[in-house]
Amino acid sequence: MSFQLRRIALLLGNEYAWPASYEALIRRLGSHLVVDGRRFDFEIERLTIEPFDLRQPVRHQVIIDRLGYWHMTVREWLKKATLLNDSHTVNNPFTFQAMEKHSAYCVMIRLGFQIPETWLIPQREWDPEDARAQFTTQTYHKLFDLEKVVDAVGGYPVFMKPYDGGGWRGVSHVTDKAELEKAYNESGKQTMHIQQGVTDYEIFCRCLGCGPQVLPMRYDPGQPLHNRYRIEHNFLSAERAEYLLKLTRIINAFFGWEYNSCESLLRGKDIFPIDFANAVPDTSLISLHYYFPWAIKALVRWSLFCAVTDRRTRLDLQSKEYFAIADRDIPFAEKLDEYHRLAQDYFEAERFDEFCAQQLAPLDEAALEFFSSRDWDDVLVERCRRSFPPHEHEKFIAHYRGLISHWVKTESERLAHR
Ligand SMILES: Nc1ncnc2c1ncn2[C@@H]1O[C@H](COP(=O)(O)OP(=O)(O)O)[C@@H](O)[C@H]1O
Ligand SMILES: [Mg+2]
Repeated sequence: MSFQLRRIALLLGNEYAWPASYEALIRRLGSHLVVDGRRFDFEIERLTIEPFDLRQPVRHQVIIDRLGYWHMTVREWLKKATLLNDSHTVNNPFTFQAMEKHSAYCVMIRLGFQIPETWLIPQREWDPEDARAQFTTQTYHKLFDLEKVVDAVGGYPVFMKPYDGGGWRGVSHVTDKAELEKAYNESGKQTMHIQQGVTDYEIFCRCLGCGPQVLPMRYDPGQPLHNRYRIEHNFLSAERAEYLLKLTRIINAFFGWEYNSCESLLRGKDIFPIDFANAVPDTSLISLHYYFPWAIKALVRWSLFCAVTDRRTRLDLQSKEYFAIADRDIPFAEKLDEYHRLAQDYFEAERFDEFCAQQLAPLDEAALEFFSSRDWDDVLVERCRRSFPPHEHEKFIAHYRGLISHWVKTESERLAHR
């Protein structure tokens, strides 16, 4: 038998429960797999940040990145790792820097999806010391009427939000002229979208995508952080679920976003995607609670698949192929299937399913055992201690124990009925 070592790197911020659970699950799988007569041993390493030589070889085949979105040293190291060392990064550091939420809207429009009416407006402020910027704005910026942009997207209410988004930073719900001016004045040097407000929606759906795996969750942004994801299983009709699954995979495959959460508002017959670019999708136990084990299992499956198949970050996009479908004179439903086929090819979905069935059958049981174990309880308790003030520890520890026990119960039933 041949032996292969596969190193998986984690680039982490202020995160505790997910890396601990991810590492524990891989250990429970024995930290190795035997695939087609080859033994793969997995080594998981949490990386530190330090000066690096551009020529220094990167030893990690797969890198799960939670930092590069805002930490430039890390972002540039990830680029070097893909360009020079053939590492596979989840996510693609290039497209998340260059493309963002705005580009996702543009691609959705091009492919024929419906998005809320959206305009981009020039930034409010420039550095007064910057003579070049002053010259350009005075010479070439055309004065515009902000309220006309609001009219163009259908009138109040609108959302004013940064074109690149993230973590609800700088997002304003604007209902009249005074709020509009205030929001624009406060936006400072950021480049903003003005977007039609989708009010009275029935469902806010967050689809968490990890490779070709997608979990739709019902979301309530009005609730406090620990209560936003609702435990509700059949909140989408089969038709809507299929549409959202496909849309999520298509956008994620188009940009190479392999771990991403995609937000849509559903009103009547309409499905409005509002935010499909989240480089560091929510993976916190505190917010995901019942869905947390799903996310960890999905990450284990996808990262091990990438490791044993020597997946490489794709540097070239397949936009031409998607646009060729968009430009054809066929009904949208057919286009959707064609785009989806490209997306499933990108994710090697069939090979992935086969890999999960043949190699990861023990994962379900391993996860069930882990999330019922003392080890897990220690993680849960520590996470709650770090997240809440001391007088709330007891309450929240009981709360999360209850939610995860509920997951253990429903998961045991699911496994029993397979
Ligand atoms: N067009 C819209 N209609 C209704 N609500 C919106 C709209 N755009 C944003 N929101 C609300 O604002 C929140 C933040 O906006 P989003 O685009 O997701 O920004 P971020 O990238 O910061 O998460 C959303 O979760 C939603 O509650
Ligand atoms: Mg969002």
